[in-house]
Amino acid sequence: MASTLRFSVTFLTLLFSLWVVEVHTSRKLISIKEEEDQTISHLLKDGEFDDPSLYMFFRINDLKYDLKSGSKLPIFFNKDDPQKLPPLITRQEADLIPFTTSKLDFLLSHFSISKDSPQGKAMKETLERCNYKPMEGQLKFCGTSLESMLDLVKETIGSNADLKVMTTKVTVPTQNTVSYALHNYTFVEAPKELFGVKMLGCHRMPYPYAVYYCHGHKSGSRVFEVNLVSDNGRQRVVGPAVCHMDTSMWNTDHVAFKVLKIEPGTAPVCHFFPLDNIVWLTK
Ligand SMILES: *[C@@H]1O[C@H](CO)[C@@H](O)[C@H](O)[C@H]1NC(C)=O
Repeated sequence: MASTLRFSVTFLTLLFSLWVVEVHTSRKLISIKEEEDQTISHLLKDGEFDDPSLYMFFRINDLKYDLKSGSKLPIFFNKDDPQKLPPLITRQEADLIPFTTSKLDFLLSHFSISKDSPQGKAMKETLERCNYKPMEGQLKFCGTSLESMLDLVKETIGSNADLKVMTTKVTVPTQNTVSYALHNYTFVEAPKELFGVKMLGCHRMPYPYAVYYCHGHKSGSRVFEVNLVSDNGRQRVVGPAVCHMDTSMWNTDHVAFKVLKIEPGTAPVCHFFPLDNIVWLTK
């Protein structure tokens, strides 16, 4: 067992480079009070967001499909370089590695990461976030392998039979290449609301191997399937979107409020999902 762990750790350390930067888009979508304070002022430059990954949020009124006055939504869909993403490991491998804040020092030394480096801080944050107890009405857990994520999803929102998975997909006509940049999008058709579904959104967290933070709420969210086209007509995006109807319990400093220029609890916060997120749905 010890030698297997050593093997996994060496293997992971080799692959371990830019994961802190690569997975940071997802972190913006993790709401609620447990979110650490964030400094926002540096995000705005010349009235535009300096960080394009903030272009994920929208207002519920923007969901209108209206050819004449339909909203143009600036959205940034980014594709992370798979070479730079933390690797997925199997459940057998994951089960050999402790995953708790109390083992942080051990984990840092095994992954040869210094406590004060950005990676070390990100590891600590990920462990802390994963170790929090869910708040009242909140569903949450972390999956350290695809197998454990699937089991936890089934335990949390449903059985095998009716589980569906959704991800965001970007497509282009054959003669074009996808441009993962900020584009203005409009709806191709009316967003389809998926009524009465339970949803869990799973976001990748910064960690030396793939860790998914999955969360949802027992009530208070509306889920949609959207179909968008960029204003140059070249790029289509199909995927899930969610509107959190009650944001009164969210951290006042959550980036969504700055992007949408609203106060907590005054209006729903809606967002699309980065391409590497996994959305689970069940009736
Ligand atoms: C989106 O549209 C707005 C308003 O028409 C324009 O000012 C902005 O530059 C456009 N953004 C992009 C990325 O095309």
